[in-house]
Amino acid sequence: MAATILVTGGTGILGRQVVARLRDAGQSVRVLSRHGGPAGDGVEYVAGDLQTGEGAAAAVDGVTTIVHCAGTQKGDGDKARHLVAAAKDAGVRHIVFISVVGADTIPVVSGIDRGAFAYFESKHDAERVIEASGIPWTTLRATQFYELTLLTAKAMAKLPVIPVPSGFNFQPVDSGEVADRLVELALGDPQGFVSDVAGPTVYSMKDLIRSYVAAAGLRRLFLPVPMPGRAARAIRDGANIAPARAVGRRTWEEFLATQSLVQA
Ligand SMILES: NC(=O)c1ccc[n+]([C@@H]2O[C@H](COP(=O)([O-])OP(=O)(O)OC[C@H]3O[C@@H](n4cnc5c(N)ncnc54)[C@H](OP(=O)(O)O)[C@@H]3O)[C@@H](O)[C@H]2O)c1
Repeated sequence: MAATILVTGGTGILGRQVVARLRDAGQSVRVLSRHGGPAGDGVEYVAGDLQTGEGAAAAVDGVTTIVHCAGTQKGDGDKARHLVAAAKDAGVRHIVFISVVGADTIPVVSGIDRGAFAYFESKHDAERVIEASGIPWTTLRATQFYELTLLTAKAMAKLPVIPVPSGFNFQPVDSGEVADRLVELALGDPQGFVSDVAGPTVYSMKDLIRSYVAAAGLRRLFLPVPMPGRAARAIRDGANIAPARAVGRRTWEEFLATQSLVQA
């Protein structure tokens, strides 16, 4: 009987694909999230909140490897702290963490930076907690998933005139391909930081949103907006993309063709 692998955030966009792949690989899988999950799919669901640490000890009991996918827009450092504390007590031997391209290179130093880009600071904080945990670890940084890109485009396209930060580029990636890589890492030995994963194409933010607008049959105007602050400057300089790591195969256009484009 294989040891149990814990997938935190195993009900989310990425996490549920990690869970499915681990199950397909014959692994015994437990999921930790705040709201639990569907019974009867061969996966054990534990309800807990990593922001407070509630339920973490039960979730890590008997676990050798953790794939840490639980995350929100902020506070991921604290989530990692609670997870690591419980994991140390339980004798976990490998934590695999999903972070974001730019976590270490987008400076979040001012109120202006924090207003829009606190997410990168939070992921960087979590990276450092895992690095310093004393538990062998592997961290993978990925660019934005297509699902998030679509959500953003839909939200922005609610406006008749869409403000688009000037000079921002994105290189979104298929979350299933990120899940493939995380599972490969979880079934291997700890490696520390591994090479980033990014999608096959770099787009200007305007082109990305425009492609959604066109596919949804909408008509919108675009307004370029200069974004202040150091974080925005780093993004204009490409800190959130990884053209040398364009390893994703599925394209944004292929993804869009499979999606409901109706605005929520
Ligand atoms: N989306 C992207 O473009 C992207 C890109 C690079 C890296 N990442 C990272 O990849 C990870 C997964 O992203 P995703 O898009 O799949 O996110 P998601 O769909 O929002 O899923 C987040 C998961 O985390 C769980 N969760 C949230 N807060 C929690 C808490 N306090 N305690 C326990 N579980 C909690 C959620 O379940 P409950 O709500 O039930 O708790 C859910 O299962 C995140 O760490 C994110 O930062 C995402």
